[in-house]
Amino acid sequence: MNIAYLNGQYLPIEQAKISPLDRGFLFGDGVYEVVPSYEGKLVGFLPHLQRMNEGLEAIGISTGWSENQWLDLCLKLIQQNGAGNLGIYLQISRGAYESRAHRFPDKVNPTIFAFCFEIPPAPVADKSHAKTYTVSTARDIRWDRRDIKSTSLLGNVLHYQQGVEQGNQETLLYNEHNELTEASSCNAFIVKNGTVITPPLDHQKLPGITRQILIDILRNDGNIVVEERAVTMNEVAEADEVWITSSSREIAPVIAIDSVPVGDGQIGDVWLAAQTLFSANRFNY
Ligand code: PDD
Repeated sequence: MNIAYLNGQYLPIEQAKISPLDRGFLFGDGVYEVVPSYEGKLVGFLPHLQRMNEGLEAIGISTGWSENQWLDLCLKLIQQNGAGNLGIYLQISRGAYESRAHRFPDKVNPTIFAFCFEIPPAPVADKSHAKTYTVSTARDIRWDRRDIKSTSLLGNVLHYQQGVEQGNQETLLYNEHNELTEASSCNAFIVKNGTVITPPLDHQKLPGITRQILIDILRNDGNIVVEERAVTMNEVAEADEVWITSSSREIAPVIAIDSVPVGDGQIGDVWLAAQTLFSANRFNY
């Protein structure tokens, strides 16, 4: 049974109902998070919560919830759904109002919804077991505040679907200057001559928690140089390795872009070093 949380109640997900006038449904007016949990242990709870609170503040929603209340919600969902490998999904919309109007209603309670879904076991740093990815490419058509983890994901959905229809599992996105932004549901990294390079944070991409943790782990270790700077389409094409990162995938090796092999078309050694460090440190965040 999948036990969800909705506005103060824990209940089977089929029984969780929201109003069709909910602004999350009508306008995509809300934010969300996905926190990974392996065998009952959360990865990156605090940075995920911080990003969610920043998103809520950016769009003017206040829940009044404390850090402990959010933690308690996550732990109760784990407890009630069995401590397997779970993505804990949290969503806050501005709430349901009596009519459809663009302006923020004066009095409306946010809708707080959470549920769990199964994710694959934590990735292992082993080339022979790692899942590899092939990706499409596209001009990034999304809005100008991609740093907010908004539930308005139509642009992301269309980009992801393009990849699927082309036989791939993701789509790398480029801005109008042919610079890499991210992928439709992941951040992106390249490796060139042993240096790990990822585009800097700005409004064009989500500040991914896996990205943040990975950069921190690599810098603390100190054996691999990490650069945060603009990455051009040509640099991606000439990279030795390309990775996409997200909470449920961690560091995912990309072996072909638009059917052209990345490097030698195999998982790279820098990926192995990075995923080894990530696996050793994931629960420290
Ligand atoms: N996706 N960029 C985008 C557009 C994303 O949607 C995500 C996450 C990321 C990676 O962020 P993080 O490392 O914090 O998971 C980057 C989530 C998992 C999703 O929408 O399901």
